[in-house]
This record gives sequence, C-alpha cells and structure tokens, in this order.
Amino acid sequence: MNVNVVGSGYVGTTLAACLADLGHEVTAIDIDQSVVDAINAGHAPLHEPGLDKLLAEHVGERLHATTSYDDLSEADVTFLAIGTPSEADGSIDVGPLSAAAEMVGEALAGADRNGEHLVVVKSTITPPGLAEIRDALVAGLGDGGGDVGFATNPEFLREGTAVSDFQDPDKIVFGTESDTALATLEELYAPLIETSDSLVVRTDPATAMMIKYANNAFLATKISLANDLGNICKEFGLDAYEVMEAVGLDDRIGEQFLRSGVGWGGSCFPKDVAALIAAAREAGYEPPLLNAAVEVNDRQPERLLALLDAHVDVAGERVAVLGLAFKPGTDDVRNSRAIPLIEGLQARGAEVVGYDPVATETMRERFPDIEYADSAADALAGASGAVVATDWDEFAALDEEFDAMAEAVVVDGRRIIKRRAGITYEGLTW
Ligand code: UDX
Repeated sequence: MNVNVVGSGYVGTTLAACLADLGHEVTAIDIDQSVVDAINAGHAPLHEPGLDKLLAEHVGERLHATTSYDDLSEADVTFLAIGTPSEADGSIDVGPLSAAAEMVGEALAGADRNGEHLVVVKSTITPPGLAEIRDALVAGLGDGGGDVGFATNPEFLREGTAVSDFQDPDKIVFGTESDTALATLEELYAPLIETSDSLVVRTDPATAMMIKYANNAFLATKISLANDLGNICKEFGLDAYEVMEAVGLDDRIGEQFLRSGVGWGGSCFPKDVAALIAAAREAGYEPPLLNAAVEVNDRQPERLLALLDAHVDVAGERVAVLGLAFKPGTDDVRNSRAIPLIEGLQARGAEVVGYDPVATETMRERFPDIEYADSAADALAGASGAVVATDWDEFAALDEEFDAMAEAVVVDGRRIIKRRAGITYEGLTW
C-alpha cells in the first residue's frame, strides 16, 4: 500500500520505518527540513535502537521524507503522528494536530484520488479532543470529502524498544467508522496480524483512544500502588520486593510494573494521566484514584530526600545524583524523577553533581548550573550523600567507588545498589 505519515517525531519515524519494513511505500512528511534531510540520509532524527538500521535499509527504496503535502492524495492512507503538547493544567494542546488534520483535508480535497483515502490518527488524543480533529479534517475537505475515511490506531510503544514493540505487539487496536476503513487497516497490518500472536481489537475511533489512555493510566497506577505498598513495607521494616514478587505470581495481577521506588517519569505516563484527569474533570468527573496515583508519584522524591536528611545535613555539601534519564537505555530526561530530586537538593543548599551514562547533555539543558561528572566514581568522590534515580546496570557494579565519599550515605530509589559494609544504605521502599 501507499502510506503517508505526517509528523516525524519518535512515534511517526518509528511508524514510517516499520511500515516500510512491512513492504509498504511510505512518505514521511514533516515541516522541519532538518528532520526530513536526516531521514533521507538514512539517519533517525532521534535515538531509538534499531531505527537507524531500518531507515538505512528502506530510505531511497520504499521510504522517503518531504516537507510537501502536494502529493499526499496519491497514497491510500495518511497517518497523523503530530505531537500533542501539555498545557499547564495537564490538558493537551490539540492545535498542532488540528492544523495538520485541516491541511491534510485541504490537500486531499484539491486533488484527484483513486478510491477511498483513510486518515488515521496515531497521536494520543483524548476522546473529546478527537472530535475536534475530525472536525478540522472535515473543514479542510470542504465539499471534497465524499470518500475520505477517519480512523484511529493508537500506539503502545516503549522508548528503547519501540521497533520490536511495533513488530511484535501485544495488541493492535483499530478504531474505525466503516467496514472499508477497517479493511484498509487490516490490509496495512496484514503481515503483522498473520505472523504474530497479537490480538486485534476492532472498535470505534474514540474507544480506541480511550483504550490507550486506560492502558497507560492502569500501568502508572499499578506502579503507584506498588510504591504505596512499598512505603508501608518500609515503615514495617519489610522487603517490598519480596512481597511484590510474590504478589505478582497471581495471574490476575502479573509480575510486571510492580517495582517500587522513586516513581514513574518519561513522556507518556505523566502526560497521559494528567490529560485524562483534565479531560475527565472537563466532562464533570474528578477521578480520585488517578489523582492519588499522581500524588503518590509526586511524593516519592521528597520521601527519598527525607531519608537522606535523616543521616546527613546536605546544606553546603556535595551530593551525587546517580542516573538522570527517566529510565535506563535512553537519554530522555522528560519528567525524569531526577528532576525533583535535583530541585529538592538545591532547595536544601546542596552542591549537586549529576552523572548519567548517556543523558548528561539533555539534563544540562534543564539544569545548566549543576556539576556533571564523567563517571559515577567521579560523582561520588568527596560527596556526603548519593541518591539513585535511574536503574542503569552499571550502578549494580559500584563497590569501592563509595569509599571515596566524604560520608557514604546512599539512598537507592531503584533498588540497584549492592549493600556493602562501609556505606549507610537506605532503600526508598525497603
Ligand atoms: C510507557 C508505556 O510502557 C508504553 O506502553 C506507552 O506507549 C508509553 O509509556 P515508556 O514511557 O517508554 O513507555 O517507559 P516504561 O518502560 O513503561 O517506564 C515508565 C516509567 O515507569 C519509568 O520511569 C520507569 O522507571 C517506571 N517504572 C516502570 C517503575 O518505576 N517501576 C516499574 O515496575 C516499571
């Protein structure tokens, strides 16, 4: 099939490369010339394992990028993968996505088309917001939209494993309004549906988006519940991991996302949970459990710092923050738990030194004035305390590096540090 993907961010580029890999002819459309040039040169405009390889393989063959909407109508399907930035109240700004939908409508209306063209929303947008995107598309189409369909197809990709998550998904969700639209999406994904065990969910466009939000809200709440229980375990002097590993053996619960610690960050959970709460509030419902999930998450960094306070007064002291990325395997610091930790340490008058194997430069944009070390050993040397924000594997191997600390107080927010003689170790939830 012939497919356009409008928006070449993390989701759009992964989608474009993976669809080309399935055998489709793909045009990636982005307004940023430098992003288009990078893709056409076979380079991903962002770091995602496996993406460069796919681009190098398919660019110039089945995949190319452009800034132009002119030939958009030649394709069978156009995906919208435009960002939905957060507003101060947690709701999302539908403006850019809405503008893109209108432009797609205009491009389709002014051209000859053979057969139905399907416009598919890939961006994550709340069900009430989705109606605006549909309206924008219809406005762009004017009188020329007789055979243009509208659908949604949410993504469930994790950073760091996005390519393999696309190729081997747990589920594929199609939100369509007609049998023709459903048939188009099934044809597009046929190679995946035939070869993987993934379940195909067929529903309407708004329900498909609600599935995406409910999915992320569930996982974020699951971690917050593990953190709440972990905090209770800590008060009781019990090992939260021993407890939750046993709890996870119950099929109805499952073993994943029960690792308690300093909480969830990243580009999806905080944003999607906030957007769902804001949209629910707007619709007249205040969701108590989701609010509590956010509250638990917001409190974990201060709980961690309180454990440090109990052992050392950090004012004027050097304190190491080990791990700056929101999770291992990425340089993404969006909503990283390291951010409230650094802010809390600064508020206490500490001299913060951060270390991360890959995320130093991205965190430097957020905190230009703190010190950054080239290694965990350098960060720890002379420090009167250390807090662990990310579970990078290399932190598990730290050992005599702690001997160079002025006061070896270590508060582990991710259960990655090995306890050893000579350090005062505190686990956040055990
Ligand atoms: C998540 C969802 O997994 C994905 O399906 C969705 O499309 C986007 O959001 P991602 O943000 O890439 O993906 O990261 P994920 O691996 O899910 O971790 C999210 C956060 O939860 C990280 O900060 C991680 O450290 C934290 N986490 C995860 C825990 O604190 N405990 C756990 O047990 C699992």
